[in-house]
Amino acid sequence: MSSLTEAIQKHHRSLGKTLEAHARGVGGGEPQTERNLFVAFLKGDLLPHARGEERHLYGAVDALVREHGKATATMMIDHEFINDYVAKIELATNRLESADGSERAQMLRELRELSLRLDAIVELHLAKEERVYLPLIERYLDQAHQQQILEAIHESYEEEKKMPKERPLDVRNVVPRERHTLIFDTFTALKPGEAFVLINDHDPRPLYYQFQAEHSGQFSWDYLEQGPEVWRVRIGRRA
Ligand SMILES: [Fe+2]
Ligand SMILES: [Fe+2]
Repeated sequence: MSSLTEAIQKHHRSLGKTLEAHARGVGGGEPQTERNLFVAFLKGDLLPHARGEERHLYGAVDALVREHGKATATMMIDHEFINDYVAKIELATNRLESADGSERAQMLRELRELSLRLDAIVELHLAKEERVYLPLIERYLDQAHQQQILEAIHESYEEEKKMPKERPLDVRNVVPRERHTLIFDTFTALKPGEAFVLINDHDPRPLYYQFQAEHSGQFSWDYLEQGPEVWRVRIGRRA
């Protein structure tokens, strides 16, 4: 790794860590000095970092993207994060169905935090599309081409809506002792004919035997992906 990459990554980590620490603490009745420190960090570190990049890095990057890169790659990363947050929100929502007491309060806080983070990402993402992409399209693509894109978007949207609703249940970040309960709760909530897709970091074979023991004849089990890093299994309730 070059020293420039290394330096920028290091600075990013440090900015991210400090920002997260402040963001988690702020608004919880902390002394005014804490809040002042937060603002000082934002104005004294975060914003100068951005301005430094605009002045000295982005010019070089612009030329490189034109030559060797893909301008939409950054937007695809936004989409990846948006997907990830949706999965986390779904997971928190599923877990809330069976959570109670202090766990419930904690899950609700988590859900709220996840939703706000997603909201911020989407707000930024939409602004980028509307301020950069749409004006380019408007200016340089003829009407027929624009119409063609619009129709294709509509079509794929309709296609997706027709696809069976199989919600993913990603348990990779769930502590192992809670995984089985979560999975069985999700299964119990299914209506006949419905399914969900279990995503795990190892082969959930033991779970299969537990399903056989407890729900023999009532469930379907189809591997969609079998490692080596991710296992995806469609688990359905038989009609
Ligand atoms: Fe940066
Ligand atoms: Fe988008």
